[in-house]
Amino acid sequence: MAVPTFTAATLAPAPTPTFYFIGVTTGSSSIQRVFPAWAEHLGLDAVLKGIDLPLHAPAADYRRVVQFIRDDPLSMGALVTTHKIDLYQAAGDLFDEVDYFARLMGETSCISKRDGRLVCHAKDPISSGLALDSFIPAGHWQRYPEATVVSMGAGGSTIAISWHLTQVARGADRPARFITANRSQPRLDHLRQVHAQLDTDTPFDYVLNPSPEGNDAVVGAQPAGSLVINATGLGKDAPGSPLTDAVQFPVDGLVWELNYRGDLIFLEQARAQQAARHLTVEDGWVYFLHGWTQVIGEVFHIDIPTAGPGFEALSQIARNTR
Ligand SMILES: NC(=O)c1ccc[n+]([C@@H]2O[C@H](COP(=O)([O-])OP(=O)(O)OC[C@H]3O[C@@H](n4cnc5c(N)ncnc54)[C@H](OP(=O)(O)O)[C@@H]3O)[C@@H](O)[C@H]2O)c1
Repeated sequence: MAVPTFTAATLAPAPTPTFYFIGVTTGSSSIQRVFPAWAEHLGLDAVLKGIDLPLHAPAADYRRVVQFIRDDPLSMGALVTTHKIDLYQAAGDLFDEVDYFARLMGETSCISKRDGRLVCHAKDPISSGLALDSFIPAGHWQRYPEATVVSMGAGGSTIAISWHLTQVARGADRPARFITANRSQPRLDHLRQVHAQLDTDTPFDYVLNPSPEGNDAVVGAQPAGSLVINATGLGKDAPGSPLTDAVQFPVDGLVWELNYRGDLIFLEQARAQQAARHLTVEDGWVYFLHGWTQVIGEVFHIDIPTAGPGFEALSQIARNTR
């Protein structure tokens, strides 16, 4: 059942320390049950409140929300979903500090306060990287030097994932190419612009693919060990899969569905071939955990473990609320 949320017009001073979730339909998110349990476990004296804004809300609404959090003493910060780019574009100048990734990617997923200064971060490169590292064995790309990444969907997650996997600091443990397929051109153009600023020699390819059959052909052509990602939201935000049932995943491949709930047909397609093609199949649960805990750590100035028993405890607490 959805819990009450704010809109830009109904924001009211927080009577107790409050952490906000800025999205579209935040009242029905599972984090409404998870956060109170985590807060108790982590010893945080804070409540979570949702702020719902329509898709591509007016710039004035984004500015009102950011100014409200900045000026209200017990409003501690926020996690931003869906509005990451729009909020940053409309209100980026209101922040006293903007981290490197937020500047590079032109978006923010995390609003926090430090020493009286309003700060924004883009946490997706960190949280998606932690999630990838949890299921891709170290040295995987060296063992499969021809293996590539095919990410379907050219949104914020693909930007973050492509940064993580192509960093020069990874040495030879990088894919041979990073291929992004999208149904329309504008996001591919934006991605190309972001990639042009990266300090990497990993080749990037941009494929305009309006149909699942086109995606099948791209995925089916990749060498053993390649990673195939559904970053379109299809299966959760809209029905379907970016692939047809006829797709052939790469042998020894890694398959990642970014979501963990919904009618995840892409995940079913991968599981149907898991044994025969020796696939590692992963959903978005660990990504969800890292996405939230990275922001909570920043807002409340605490270190939250990213692996091991401390992280497992948070995962179990979250599972218990489902
Ligand atoms: N587990 C987690 O915690 C977690 C974290 C981050 C993201 N996610 C999920 O990952 C998904 C992607 O996130 P994001 O932030 O990258 O989203 P985004 O910025 O909205 O990008 C989605 C991309 O997918 C493409 N797309 C949408 N519908 C499509 C369709 N019917 N066919 C083909 N392509 C389609 C879009 O194409 P156009 O450019 O043509 O619009 C867009 O480029 C979302 O469902 C999100 O909920 C999960």
